[in-house]
Amino acid sequence: MAEIHWQRKDLLGIAELSREEIELILDTAESFSEVAERPIKKVPTLRGKTVINLFFEPSTRTRSSFEIAEKRLSSDSLNFSASASALTKGESLIDTAMNLQAMSPDLVVIRHAYPGSPHMLARRLEAGVINAGDGAHEHPTQALLDAFTIRRHKGGLSGLKVAIIGDIEHSRVVRSNIHLLTKMGSEVTVAGPRTMMPVGLDKLGANVVFSLEEALDGADVVMMLRVQLERQARTLLPSVREYFHLFGLTRERLKAAKEDAIVMHPGPMNRGTEITSDVADGSRSVILEQVANGVAVRMAVLYLLSGVHEETA
Ligand code: CP
Repeated sequence: MAEIHWQRKDLLGIAELSREEIELILDTAESFSEVAERPIKKVPTLRGKTVINLFFEPSTRTRSSFEIAEKRLSSDSLNFSASASALTKGESLIDTAMNLQAMSPDLVVIRHAYPGSPHMLARRLEAGVINAGDGAHEHPTQALLDAFTIRRHKGGLSGLKVAIIGDIEHSRVVRSNIHLLTKMGSEVTVAGPRTMMPVGLDKLGANVVFSLEEALDGADVVMMLRVQLERQARTLLPSVREYFHLFGLTRERLKAAKEDAIVMHPGPMNRGTEITSDVADGSRSVILEQVANGVAVRMAVLYLLSGVHEETA
């Protein structure tokens, strides 16, 4: 286990985390992962703590795994429904959050389309705030569960060649992953159409290429990203068929990566657009392992931010 004490109230992004903090979260997740193997999948670690889940955007994996992580840790959870709240009567996000704060939660998990919304809440709330995805900015717990999954398969992160391919422009997953993987010593190459490639990723430490084959060449890890058609204000693709022709991952194309390369995808997948079903469901795919590992990683984050490790120290 990494030899540091967790000091932060919030988890807002990977950008501000140190290498040691990332290792502490991953090591803590490793110790929580065995709870899923127990006949009774519950520990009393967060008994008496209250967690509010505020999801303003749709989610299957992140929302479910935070809820399951909270239940496995015995905390009391409130799943706030934006569509059934006073937000529909014009109440602002910050007023909503201040009213929820008045009920003394210990932690607030937030997903919102507006980049920086978790940071805004963190400045105003006494409760710890966890970013579950803010616009195209960051998705820190996704990058942490990706790192956890890679580490389990490859034994570490340093020296690995990681290819991240797809709609880079709209992806919060790619930003968090570049921050995390480069800090941990991986070599990250991002690839996608020029219309879906933001400027400045090279400054974050990633190699930027515009060809799938170039990105796959010798890769240890292949991470495919969803084409986020719902976030495109203008058409960035001539057609889905052309996208697949240039950037879709097939079994044949995967041969360019290392023989033991793993295939990842944060979900939800567009089968037949960014990845074929035989690759997504094939022996190299760790996509459902990513989902399973998300619970242990989120248990670790909830535990560290709750402060119980300080209370019991
Ligand atoms: N990976 C991810 O964030 O998936 P959801 O949108 O289903 O939470």
